[in-house]
Amino acid sequence: MTPDLKNKRVLLGISAGIAAYKTPDLVRKLGELGAEVQVVMSKNSEQFVAPLALQAVSGHDVHHYAMTADSESGMGHIDLARWADVVLIAPATANIIARLVQGNADELLTTICVATEARIAVAPAMNQQMWQNPATESNLTTLAQREVLILGPDSGDQACGEVGPGRMLQPVDIAQQLANSFHTGQLTGKKVMITAGPTWEALDPVRGITNHSSGLMGYALAQAAVEAGAEVTLVSGPTHIPSPDHCAIKNVKSALDMHEAVMQSIDQQDIFIGVAAVADYRPVASADQKIKKNADEMTISLVKNPDILADVASLEKRPFCVGFAAETNDVESYARAKLERKKLDLIAANHVGGTETGFGTPDNAITLISSEHSEALPKANKYALARELVERIATHFEQKNH
Ligand code: C5P
Repeated sequence: MTPDLKNKRVLLGISAGIAAYKTPDLVRKLGELGAEVQVVMSKNSEQFVAPLALQAVSGHDVHHYAMTADSESGMGHIDLARWADVVLIAPATANIIARLVQGNADELLTTICVATEARIAVAPAMNQQMWQNPATESNLTTLAQREVLILGPDSGDQACGEVGPGRMLQPVDIAQQLANSFHTGQLTGKKVMITAGPTWEALDPVRGITNHSSGLMGYALAQAAVEAGAEVTLVSGPTHIPSPDHCAIKNVKSALDMHEAVMQSIDQQDIFIGVAAVADYRPVASADQKIKKNADEMTISLVKNPDILADVASLEKRPFCVGFAAETNDVESYARAKLERKKLDLIAANHVGGTETGFGTPDNAITLISSEHSEALPKANKYALARELVERIATHFEQKNH
């Protein structure tokens, strides 16, 4: 599997070096790997490449260096800092590398770098003497220690006529190396099963009981687990979103179907993550034909569905079990009670019922709870949050198994 950048938001920062002329192509290459790209141009980079070209290829307005009311009106520096999954500076001149080390916030791009929690990647591009200058060398060492990803540079002919190290990597290589960096390998060799989406409990051939779960959180977790190197089985209720790549997908409708699909191969799994919003009850019977509206009143008898997660967690040979708790109030205390009752290793608690996070929204905020500790993962888009969660799950899984 070649890593891609699907569902990744790349904020491309362009600094003022001659290699900036390659950035429209870089935007294309990032896009071809699936990334959504926005561009921030530093002071003077417009001397090397036209903002209009970058606007055309990225499909977004270009964000400029000046911190004026205008430049902040589209998307402010804090919003951009939060939007990004990764801030990629390409080309990264010796000057901007030094300013990153200083933590300068003297223009939009550097301010974003100080304000963001996202990873920062730099693709250095400079004259070979500048690259070999001890100040640049030590600045790069400092950035590497801060876990800034350093892509390249390449070696060869330079715009100034010299030959040596310091050329910016080719756009295709920058895009691929950036994609590779999302593949952590933390779950290599592990099998992960995830349930996602709602269930559909049929009343008759055309009607049923369901809920507002979109499936997005479970699908995002499946993608993040694949990126972490796991072999993933996604057991999904009915959703309207595209299936993630490189997963085995089992599409189901009802809670009983989901239970059966899970149990078929649960003994092979290392980790089970129950994200599905499984209906607690189903109609006692589903009518063979469409129910007619004859009577003025009607009663539907319901019977309890099996608790898939609790059943998995009580198996003799059980995987590491992670549950979700969607609550409208007293989120943490209800979630902790659920963790104990269902004998889980971890539970991800989130608040539903509002408009900003939870069911059907692109963002979520979670508190991850184990028997000993709890950690708040602040509001983020579900893909970014899924990566955070998978990282935590892998760490807890490792701790338990060593
Ligand atoms: O009990 P409650 O529905 O709040 O628990 C939520 C957690 O349990 C989720 O992880 C959900 O996927 C799982 N669950 C399940 N089967 C059910 C009900 C919930 O796997 N019948």
